[in-house]
Amino acid sequence: MESNQSNKNIVWHKGSITKKDRQKLNHHKSMIIWFTGLSGSGKSTLANLVEMALHSEGIRTYLLDGDNIRHGINNNLNFSPEDRKENIRRIAEVGKLFVDAGIVVLAAVISPYAEDRENARSIFGPGEFVEVYVKCPLDECEARDPKGLYKKARAGEIKNFTGISQPYEIPVAPDLVVDTANSNLAESMKLVHEYIKERLQL
Ligand SMILES: Nc1ncnc2c1ncn2[C@@H]1O[C@H](COP(=O)(O)OP(=O)(O)O)[C@@H](O)[C@H]1O
Ligand SMILES: [Mg+2]
Repeated sequence: MESNQSNKNIVWHKGSITKKDRQKLNHHKSMIIWFTGLSGSGKSTLANLVEMALHSEGIRTYLLDGDNIRHGINNNLNFSPEDRKENIRRIAEVGKLFVDAGIVVLAAVISPYAEDRENARSIFGPGEFVEVYVKCPLDECEARDPKGLYKKARAGEIKNFTGISQPYEIPVAPDLVVDTANSNLAESMKLVHEYIKERLQL
């Protein structure tokens, strides 16, 4: 999607209350934790558990789950590579607003293309975008099949399914790797939770 040409006549209006001011009020930094991985790898489960842990510690959080976002702001997008790009762009832009608002954002999105993830990272400041690769082999994701989607994809009922009829490009330099096939839920959650906690201090 081309950006709007009339943007050149739109001037940024700087507010007086800054991201730093909002972070100060919250007593912690804000950032986006971007969970990427195959369907069924554990992104939503982990993001939810990490949010619960942070919330109970008084950290202001918000969970942007790709599936949920597709019910609302992204409900006009499908799963073609172009629409996936736009899906990621919007989730990143929404995430950026939340980070500006002083929130720790947990984004759970397959985001199969490295370029789209890099574009997402590029709109954030240093240290604000934490890429978590939720690693799990395709056969294990398929065995879990928590939503029955692999079964449908194998039967040809779903086109453009990541890992089956579309690629998943493995992150080359993620900030964190969580191997959910070889660690249990509690261990996986702890890894991400501790990584974030160490980076919250203003
Ligand atoms: N270590 C783990 N971390 C996260 N999920 C796990 C782990 N081990 C098993 N699972 C299971 O894998 C499934 C992942 O599903 P889900 O979180 O919906 O995946 P995604 O959001 O990536 O599509 C859940 O049923 C979850 O209980
Ligand atoms: Mg999910």
